Amino acid sequence: MSSALLSTRGLSLKFGGVVAADAIDFDLMPGERLAVVGQNGAGKTTFINICTGYLKADAGQVLLGGVDITGQSPRAITRRGVGRSFQLPQVFGEHTVRECLLIAASAVQKRGGWWTPLDRAVDAHEVDATLELLQLQARAHDLAGSLPEGQRKLLDVAMALVLRPRLMIMDEPTSGVSSDEKHGLMAVLMKALDEKQVTSIFVEHDIDIVRRYATRLAAWIAGRIAADGPPDEVLRDPVVIKNVIGE
Ligand SMILES: Nc1ncnc2c1ncn2[C@@H]1O[C@H](COP(=O)(O)OP(=O)(O)OP(=O)(O)O)[C@@H](O)[C@H]1O
Ligand SMILES: [Mg+2]
Repeated sequence: MSSALLSTRGLSLKFGGVVAADAIDFDLMPGERLAVVGQNGAGKTTFINICTGYLKADAGQVLLGGVDITGQSPRAITRRGVGRSFQLPQVFGEHTVRECLLIAASAVQKRGGWWTPLDRAVDAHEVDATLELLQLQARAHDLAGSLPEGQRKLLDVAMALVLRPRLMIMDEPTSGVSSDEKHGLMAVLMKALDEKQVTSIFVEHDIDIVRRYATRLAAWIAGRIAADGPPDEVLRDPVVIKNVIGE
């Protein structure tokens, strides 16, 4: 048996005539920091959605620590230790930043009954530590909907991290953020993941960010992993240069 944290075998999904996942075999080892690149529509989000239970594959398997989790609900997969963030951050805009984390934490660790205030029903220390880790403490009492995009992205990750995942999957954590803010954002994210010892996957279009933060790179083309390995090698691959980087 492999010691992979996340594996897929023959993962396939079609939308009408579009092959969004084409028999994907994949293994992620604990401690890896995998960047995923690929043009729009290559199937990056589809792969994440299948692995996290948001989409059901037509065929194939998803294994987490060797356990078959194929077809389980997003909630069940979250409880097994897979966190994720979204291409468009999914935060509760009408709630404060701190409330968003309390609500997220209550999805797995709620104590007491419906009458118990949220900050007693969950580990409020963990919530505050997570706010600090993602440098959001100064915004704790601001409405999530009022945050600039970069901080909204951090909050989306914070809401997953507060659940203490083993694996964090981030779909374009820097999209919608200006290029001079991207590095600062990634530095905060990666430090937080390091500190919590969380293995990670992130989808990224910016090659500078990939070079700087990934230990491994997988390039998606038309629902397949066309190249996978050390970032420098994958970025030199002519197929990747032609179809993904577009030089
Ligand atoms: N729910 C859906 N219904 C129909 N087609 C879909 C659905 N989700 C994705 N697709 C199609 O599947 C293909 C892969 O889409 P996906 O969103 O996974 O791409 P992506 O690599 O994440 O692209 P982007 O970089 O634009 O986010 C695309 O052709 C897309 O139009
Ligand atoms: Mg996508």
